[in-house]
Amino acid sequence: MLITHAYSILLSLLVLIALCLHLFGCDHCPHLPIQIHEGGTTLKMRRGVNIGNALEAPREGEWGVYIRDEYFSIVREAGFDTVRIPIRWSAHAEEKPPYKIDEEFFRRVDHVIDKALEQNLTVIINVHHYEEIMRDPRGHWERFLAIWRQISERYRDYPDALCFELLNEPHDALTSDLWNALLLDAVKAIRETNSTRKIVIGPVDWNNVYSLKKLIVPDDENIIVTFHLYTPFEFTHQGAEWVAPSPPVGRKWLGTEEERRQITSELDTAVQWAGEHGNIPLLLGEFGAYSKADMNSRVRWTRFVAREAEKRGIAWCYWEFCAGFGVYDPVENKWREDLLNALIPKEDTYYVFAETEHGNITGSGWYHKGTYATIKLEKTEFDSLIPIVFDHFEGLNPDKDIILDERTVKVYVDGPREIKAVWRRNYRMLATAASVAGALVIGVLILFYLKKLKRK
Ligand code: BGC
Repeated sequence: MLITHAYSILLSLLVLIALCLHLFGCDHCPHLPIQIHEGGTTLKMRRGVNIGNALEAPREGEWGVYIRDEYFSIVREAGFDTVRIPIRWSAHAEEKPPYKIDEEFFRRVDHVIDKALEQNLTVIINVHHYEEIMRDPRGHWERFLAIWRQISERYRDYPDALCFELLNEPHDALTSDLWNALLLDAVKAIRETNSTRKIVIGPVDWNNVYSLKKLIVPDDENIIVTFHLYTPFEFTHQGAEWVAPSPPVGRKWLGTEEERRQITSELDTAVQWAGEHGNIPLLLGEFGAYSKADMNSRVRWTRFVAREAEKRGIAWCYWEFCAGFGVYDPVENKWREDLLNALIPKEDTYYVFAETEHGNITGSGWYHKGTYATIKLEKTEFDSLIPIVFDHFEGLNPDKDIILDERTVKVYVDGPREIKAVWRRNYRMLATAASVAGALVIGVLILFYLKKLKRK
């Protein structure tokens, strides 16, 4: 009897535990990856790229990028599933009511969207560089809504794969109170014609993640929340001509604990905020490092941000395709493989970082597991009063790597490798110069002394 009783208690306990696991199991943890994959619909948004510096320039082409149709197949074949297309509608709409958008411009945007959709890409179009509304939100309120009404009307029958992003990087006079009111009006305006289209919204202060707390999200099931990440700004924007004062060039990103922590804390902030707001899908709509930074640092940073975002279920769009941050070289018509692999890793491929403080070193890049990277220093000595001479390579594995000569090594790629040229000062010349000078001084002193002795 007692045994049966104990048995049934045990059984009930087990059932209770199973029930709890089912109800509160990890699928229900707010901090778990947020996916934008929609059951039943075609929306795929995981890895994207911004087709920047084209349609958000005052006129397309003025900033060096004219969107070629083939860009979208190139992007698709490389493994991206999303493109974000920044558009400066405000430069193509009338200044006065009814704020009509220029038909020719609209046709150009239709064409670009169609070409992207043909490639099965998720397409985000936005309102970009609406500078006037940042200075005078009330003065541009109705114009902004009129622009969105026209866009919504035009694309109302487009597939779900087309998403609308309300406004890039609200800032300045567009304070959070005003922005929350304006975005609500804009969502309502869009919903008049597009009842379920995905709408992307982001916080003030240039879509700063720490300003998410100021964002009021409309009660709507089809909202995606975006933020941008360019931390540390002094690294990602070094030498950027459009920033005043422009951060000095030469800043590296080495992935130190502190550097990594800055980035993960931004991503964690976003995930935590989303968890507290019904697990809203998150999009890191822009991140990238300008081409004036060194490629090794750009690869490290880009790879780190992309992987950390993915770990947290955050979709991302790299800034940008083929201009100053470009992952694609539009002149050579080829990908910048170093950056592309950082974004979309190839299986069993690792990056070899070859670093030096002086002169040039070659051999950095992505390599297949099991192959060798040849790392070569161009010069091993730099002249000055105290010459700088190459001492040794740090990070070698004596069992596997092969030293070819004083300045060349073959590094075995069995994982990511970091090889650093270590230099030292050569004090020999200084020591010789010092002893010659010393001898001269002593000689002069002796002569002086002897002369003095003679006079006496
Ligand atoms: C701006 C671009 C700029 C980029 C990086 C974007 O939001 O629209 O003009 O190049 O951020 O600073």
